Amino acid sequence: MSHLNLTFTKDDFYDWIPIGSGSYSTIYKVFYKKVPKAFSLKVMNKANLRNTRSSESIKTECDLVIRLKHTNILRVYSAFEDETSIYFVQELGYGNLTDLDLSSLSFDDLRYYAAELVEAIAYLHQEKILHRDLKPENVLICLDQHIKIIDFGCAKLMAEKSIPSVLVPPSESPPLQPRNPSIVGSPLYVSPEVLEGKEADQASDIWSLACMLFYIYTGHPLFSAPTDYLLYQQIIECQYSLTPKKGQTFHHSLPEELCSLLSQILVKDPTLRLSIDDIKGHPFFEGIDWVHLSYQEPPNISSTFSNNVDASPRTRNVLILPRDHGSTSRTPIPPPPNESFFPPDSNGDDTLFCVAWTAPSDVFDAA
Ligand SMILES: Nc1ncnc2c1ncn2[C@@H]1O[C@H](COP(=O)(O)OP(=O)(O)OP(=O)(O)O)[C@@H](O)[C@H]1O
Ligand SMILES: [Mg+2]
Repeated sequence: MSHLNLTFTKDDFYDWIPIGSGSYSTIYKVFYKKVPKAFSLKVMNKANLRNTRSSESIKTECDLVIRLKHTNILRVYSAFEDETSIYFVQELGYGNLTDLDLSSLSFDDLRYYAAELVEAIAYLHQEKILHRDLKPENVLICLDQHIKIIDFGCAKLMAEKSIPSVLVPPSESPPLQPRNPSIVGSPLYVSPEVLEGKEADQASDIWSLACMLFYIYTGHPLFSAPTDYLLYQQIIECQYSLTPKKGQTFHHSLPEELCSLLSQILVKDPTLRLSIDDIKGHPFFEGIDWVHLSYQEPPNISSTFSNNVDASPRTRNVLILPRDHGSTSRTPIPPPPNESFFPPDSNGDDTLFCVAWTAPSDVFDAA
């Protein structure tokens, strides 16, 4: 097979519109000059990266994202760099789960998303990858209307020598400020063992999955407290309630099966949590066709994104799809064609466009 050495520069893209930002990056919607297709470009400023992330974690992110291929994982087609930034050329999404008006989705639609999340995590674990930062902001709805996990900035290969997620030495009480560089922002979806400075494993991702399932059904985070300190305590002591707090309304009241599923995951001891296979076999997911899940019609989320969430209304306007008021039943549809955004080679293989790229260590080493 011939390998085309396709590399990009930022001049290959036009009509840059900011559509999101994270701790390390700004995300733009762009068009590729040679093919009139929209992409997202994740732009990570090298100066910021030097201050906040190790070269090791950048390398891990680059190595991982380019090789991942699954309906429920965001495709990253290529990566390139210039003097100031690192760029990931990615599939374009509508927005993350917090941008979505979840209350307008049916119970069944949400169950489909829940199943897609389970499948995505199952795939990652099968590939020996721990995500370690699963939260609604890191789950996108993309143009194919499937959900996709993004942001592998905290991910790690299980086979590698583990780097403990040290928030606090286990003997100390929970800190007021997180010291784990891999946990930025609020620890709402982080498992007790990670908060306690122990090593993350598959069960830690599964904890975060349960917290996300609670969020997508209710519209509220499972844990909430006025300070990070109290939040840490709640999580570490597994203090939660699956019923609405005073003054809260849930989008959907949680059915018995979902409560049963969540309570069997949200236990402090990671070894006692349900495994991915247990979750797939749980009565909450009864009737889900796991084998053909990605070939079924996903929920139509065309106009369910809240207008006031994103400061870039232009983006939302560009991306509106026709609304389907139809049924919520899952109709099997044929497998999607090999949807490479770039023209495939004669073998129809688009992997050659995924330029193997490793961040040069000297770029990230402290000056
Ligand atoms: N492909 C995409 N299409 C549309 N929006 C996106 C895309 N990728 C990211 N976003 C938006 O940008 C936000 C930040 O993206 P991402 O998580 O990749 O950045 P980050 O700097 O690694 O974030 P974090 O603060 O979680 O470390 C996402 O929550 C999402 O709203
Ligand atoms: Mg993120």
